[in-house]
Amino acid sequence: MDLQDLYRDVIVDHNRNPRNFGRIDPADAHAEGFNPLCGDHLQLWAKLDGDRIADVQFEGKGCAISVASASLMTETLKGRSLTEVHDYFKQIHALLTTDDYKPTLPLGKLAALSGVREFPSRVKCASLCWHTLMAALDRQNKPVSTE
Ligand code: FES
Repeated sequence: MDLQDLYRDVIVDHNRNPRNFGRIDPADAHAEGFNPLCGDHLQLWAKLDGDRIADVQFEGKGCAISVASASLMTETLKGRSLTEVHDYFKQIHALLTTDDYKPTLPLGKLAALSGVREFPSRVKCASLCWHTLMAALDRQNKPVSTE
């Protein structure tokens, strides 16, 4: 399967069937993210177990790429340490913005997000959930905006 097929199949699957769609109450961390240009909005909750993400869930309304990216992110990061979460954040940021980037972590289905590089205007769609998660873990009390 080439990258374009992977991109299409994974984005369609995770948009139609988002994993970890829901709330955690009570949660240890929570943040909201907006893309003011399109009006898309997501909320994200995390439950921590020491320095690990025991659970992470999201809700919101967004384009196929933003929903699929949040779904893929939550699926990948559940059970990971906070150090691993920060490493994934850096790798995904580079994957979305750098041509021919060779990740050093096993990305699994997250690799499909590299297809977003073909559409620079959609990079913010794919990165919104990641910035929102970082804000939640940093206990920032203001919503994240893509602008
Ligand atoms: Fe709104 Fe993608 S078009 S986040």
